[in-house]
Amino acid sequence: MVETILEDITEEDAKKKVINKQAELINALQRKNSLLEKQLKQYKEREEATSLQVTIPAEEENQVRLADVGGLDAVIDKLHEFRYGLAHPTLYDYYVINPPESLFMYGPPGTGKTMIAKALATELETFFVNLRLTDVIDKYVGETEKTLRIILDKSFEAYKKTGRKVLVFLDEAEQLLTKRGYHSHGVMDRAVVTLNDFMDGASGKKEGIILVAATNKIEMVDEALLRAGRFSYVVEIPPPDLKGLEQIFRKQVSLQERRQKQRLGGEAHGIYQELDYRSIAATMHQQGFTGADVHEALAIAARNKIKDFIENDELSASAYLGTDDIMAAVNQRCQQRYLTASGSFSKQRRIGFSNDSG
Ligand SMILES: Nc1ncnc2c1ncn2[C@@H]1O[C@H](COP(=O)(O)OP(=O)(O)OP(=O)(O)O)[C@@H](O)[C@H]1O
Ligand SMILES: [Mg+2]
Repeated sequence: MVETILEDITEEDAKKKVINKQAELINALQRKNSLLEKQLKQYKEREEATSLQVTIPAEEENQVRLADVGGLDAVIDKLHEFRYGLAHPTLYDYYVINPPESLFMYGPPGTGKTMIAKALATELETFFVNLRLTDVIDKYVGETEKTLRIILDKSFEAYKKTGRKVLVFLDEAEQLLTKRGYHSHGVMDRAVVTLNDFMDGASGKKEGIILVAATNKIEMVDEALLRAGRFSYVVEIPPPDLKGLEQIFRKQVSLQERRQKQRLGGEAHGIYQELDYRSIAATMHQQGFTGADVHEALAIAARNKIKDFIENDELSASAYLGTDDIMAAVNQRCQQRYLTASGSFSKQRRIGFSNDSG
């Protein structure tokens, strides 16, 4: 009797265990499934976004903010006014002026134009459409104009549907805003008209769209387009001076630390030792670094450390990146720049070194 009861209990237990195990498995599968579904959805959104240039919100992890941009305090200060425009439209109504709704940036490569566009989208909580004009420009007559119109229409639709504004970033803007008569074939002229109509509000679909354009070839751009008051702000994004470089460097370091925390949570232990910012920035300045060079030098330092781990099997000194590590990376970056500038290396650079995680 006792035995049968015991048997029953153990059998019952075993069954329960199996059921529990099954439930656990099902749960795990469901979690995995919903994760997969989420990923699939994100993937689809992204695919749609790249093929149709439809909007997606700025991705969480790589979000940058205006406060992460270094060495451009006056410009950044001005950009905060975009927020006032969104938050207090009635004040602008009262004084019968338009709130800021478009921005044109010019300056050499790697100085932060794209970063600013993304940061503005984050600050304003808009969708972000990143449009490299060379990708849009089509050799077939009328196609560029059509693509541009579709993108602007879709952005407007997205705004109407969600109430969330859309920041359309026209990168390589010189491709579209070229001096008159530059396009001998006239293919682009109608695209320019489309954009002009849009900016003048003629299409009736300007609402909800913030247009940001950038170029590093200002000499190609029609000054009349910039002077005519079409853009709310036209700002120069110059290469950083010494003070600016130090600020960029500090901000890039904090940004990387913040991203590590976002990614690893409790597992995050920091990346850098206390650094000698001043002397590193001085070297960077001597070498004519831009913000993009700073970003790249930090990536090189990390890559060197990883290589060290793997090849020496254990931590030689410390997992943290110190002043010496960064200095070495800065020199490597100079070497790369030298090789790239001499032209013999430009292809390798694109394949091997370019690493702009935004
Ligand atoms: N002023 C800056 N402050 C902080 N980081 C910067 C700054 N400028 C550049 N960076 C870093 O360099 C990266 C590349 O810069 P970005 O792509 O914004 O340059 P860009 O001006 O758009 O260049 P291009 O004219 O070639 O498109 C940024 O993602 C950022 O990591
Ligand atoms: Mg750019």
